[in-house]
Amino acid sequence: MAKVTVSKLAKLFPPPIKGGDVVRAITNIDFEVDGNVFVSIVGPSGCGKSTLLNILSGVDTPTSGSVTVTEAGKPAKLGYVFQDARLLPWRSVMDNMMYVRDDASDESVANAAKYLSMVGLDHTHEMFPGQLSGGMQQRVGIARAFSVEPDLLLMDEPFSHLDAMTARSLRDHLQELWSRTRKTVLFVTHDVMEAVQLSDRIIVLAPGGVIYDDISIDLPHPRKASDPKVATLQAEILGQFENMQIPAVE
Ligand SMILES: Nc1ncnc2c1ncn2[C@@H]1O[C@H](COP(=O)(O)OP(=O)(O)OP(=O)(O)O)[C@@H](O)[C@H]1O
Ligand SMILES: [Mg+2]
Repeated sequence: MAKVTVSKLAKLFPPPIKGGDVVRAITNIDFEVDGNVFVSIVGPSGCGKSTLLNILSGVDTPTSGSVTVTEAGKPAKLGYVFQDARLLPWRSVMDNMMYVRDDASDESVANAAKYLSMVGLDHTHEMFPGQLSGGMQQRVGIARAFSVEPDLLLMDEPFSHLDAMTARSLRDHLQELWSRTRKTVLFVTHDVMEAVQLSDRIIVLAPGGVIYDDISIDLPHPRKASDPKVATLQAEILGQFENMQIPAVE
């Protein structure tokens, strides 16, 4: 149960061409996430979502401001899921699961198997990534990220490379896993419908990396995309975004 504090965070990148303008990826944002919540970061392409996750994970550094990610006052353990599963092709599914773990005890193997089972991949332990579909590989990546029991799980558009039906089924798997484990999750997506189905809260970023809106979603989990309450809320929030007035960034 992690606590994330982002304060006055800004990130500038150098001009992409000589004599051009600096790129404002993130402009002075503040927010806090505390506890076992599923939070989505939503916004159009280029509005700083991945940059924000990179800073939270320590891969990148802020230009100004700060981020802290703690668990009971200590630095939190992080897990990641990316757009692609990033499995090692020469290792079996189980070896890929074990690769991120500290020990190879029977208990540890049983734990990895438990998470594979939760995403419906009991039969794949000895298979290699090349023998799995893209959706199955992504399920391994998600099971692996949950299996290390991180305090905070960072997910960057994990379903965006998948076809619509596979993405829908993986959302159900993700909700199942999350309902059982209740990790703190920061989930980046540009898909508003996906965010409404999965999240307790949606932080909306606008171009220039500013917070445009911060919305609480108070519906029980897991949620079915076909549930009329979910569908109504999705339509309502999507409607708001279609009328999005983008704030000017100086
Ligand atoms: N390493 C980098 N060097 C220079 N500019 C960068 C770098 N990383 C990101 N940017 C710029 O910062 C801005 C935000 O990029 P970012 O990747 O965070 O957007 P995003 O919201 O994740 O977009 P997408 O939805 O397309 O993944 C963009 O204008 C991008 O060109
Ligand atoms: Mg991105």
